[in-house]
Amino acid sequence: MKNTKLKDNSKLIIFDTTLRDGEQSPGAAMTKEEKLRIARQLEKLGVNVIEAGFAAASQGDFDSIYAIAEVIKNSTVCSLARASENDVRRAGEAIRPAQSGRIHTFIATSKIHMENKLRMTPDQVVERAVQAVKWALEYTDDVEFSAEDAVRSDMDFLVRVFDAVIQAGAKTLNVPDTVGYSIPALWGERMQQLIARVPNSDKVVWSTHCHNDLGMAVANSLAAVMGGARQVECTINGLGERAGNASLEEIVMAVRTRHDVFNLETSIDTTQIVPASKLVSSITGYPVQPNKAVVGANAFAHESGIHQDGVLKHRETYEIMRAEDVGWGANKLTLGKLSGRNAFRSRLKELGIELESEEALNATFARFKTLADKKSEIFDEDIQALVSDEFFSEAAEHYKLVYLQVCSQTGEIPHALLTLSESGCEKQAESDGGGPVDAAFKAIERIVNSGAELQLYSVNNITSGTDAQGEVTVRLSKGGRIVNGQGADTDIVIASAKAYLNGLNKLHSKSERAHPQV
Ligand code: KIV
Ligand code: ZN
Repeated sequence: MKNTKLKDNSKLIIFDTTLRDGEQSPGAAMTKEEKLRIARQLEKLGVNVIEAGFAAASQGDFDSIYAIAEVIKNSTVCSLARASENDVRRAGEAIRPAQSGRIHTFIATSKIHMENKLRMTPDQVVERAVQAVKWALEYTDDVEFSAEDAVRSDMDFLVRVFDAVIQAGAKTLNVPDTVGYSIPALWGERMQQLIARVPNSDKVVWSTHCHNDLGMAVANSLAAVMGGARQVECTINGLGERAGNASLEEIVMAVRTRHDVFNLETSIDTTQIVPASKLVSSITGYPVQPNKAVVGANAFAHESGIHQDGVLKHRETYEIMRAEDVGWGANKLTLGKLSGRNAFRSRLKELGIELESEEALNATFARFKTLADKKSEIFDEDIQALVSDEFFSEAAEHYKLVYLQVCSQTGEIPHALLTLSESGCEKQAESDGGGPVDAAFKAIERIVNSGAELQLYSVNNITSGTDAQGEVTVRLSKGGRIVNGQGADTDIVIASAKAYLNGLNKLHSKSERAHPQV
């Protein structure tokens, strides 16, 4: 039996929505292959429910959920659906192959949303919520219902809606702080009151889903847990709409570290937290801030002499968690220059990466050999970046970097000379720039003339050391669409050019998808 269905009060269900709410972050749209890689890591991490997407958004979103439902065996695979017949049926079809599948349907319950967004009366909302649960039950008995904007909903109305959907057959009731408005004391109390007032509340699992607009998503979620919630919806690195969602790593480590307070267990293998964080960051192009709890590069670094001395004498003087328990250092020094194809193939397998064809394996192995010539030690993160590069190039690459030469020296204006192929046809351009990266981007624009606006440029080293690969993220926007482009290389100017072209390729591939909450 799947652990999501256990009605055991000592268990906290971890519902990960990185692939759905996380993907609603600007530019974080992922391909099917990228979602599959993250889903496999989430399964390895031990999350109970993977919200794999919003099936009605587009055919691509549907296909991703279907593919995830086909391969994931140890986590429940869930699709989001608005409370409409088409959405629910698309979600039901998408999760059909899952060993354990869930439909998560929602409708807004606050006055402001009902009047201005839905233009529905409260009676119509209740009726639709019940109907959506009934449609969902035609596909699975694991149905979750969310009252969107519960934070600003009238309490009596919430009780009425939740009562009605329990009667209709919903098994999980989610109480979202959609706009990140609550504060911990109030949120815990709201959960407690709902559980006290809704009839048959003990027959369902109560869940919370908090956004981080005021920086309190984790605190609010934990307060809801103290108020009786036994499912927390969260994302890796706190990714999500606007300021993000509650971060999975912080929730899990708080519950584990303060077991004395929560007295709850999760099924998470915490040593998979840092690998999951790095994978999500590298795929979405959202870097992790160094001082981020648990997964930030400084989370276990001790700067002051007094702290270092204390930690060396007795670790617990300043550390409440152990770095190795959350997976720091878990990513091994895996391969080197002399490693062969078989060793490479089996490391990919251990990392849960399945390349679709022998050609893709050969191409990735060739990239690995080139990298190993430049960098003596290859780590798991390097391999993940290589694979991402391979998937980028598999995804319809309209523009491709062929050649880049950059001259940069003190007292001279940086200059870039570049060749790229546009639909297989090679074109050359050159440009001066404020710096080598600027010169390279300007040279690209001389050919492409994209009209895109560069909103963000950031470089991170994938591993440590000056020979590490730099991972560059650019955020481009054009005509209301935002994409993140990534590129990795030991040369950060080349990584930058690759990232810029990756962004342009994403803008070039027109994808039409609906947003569930707009
Ligand atoms: O924030 C929210 O309310 C949501 C719902 C769809 C659960 O993401
Ligand atoms: Zn949300």
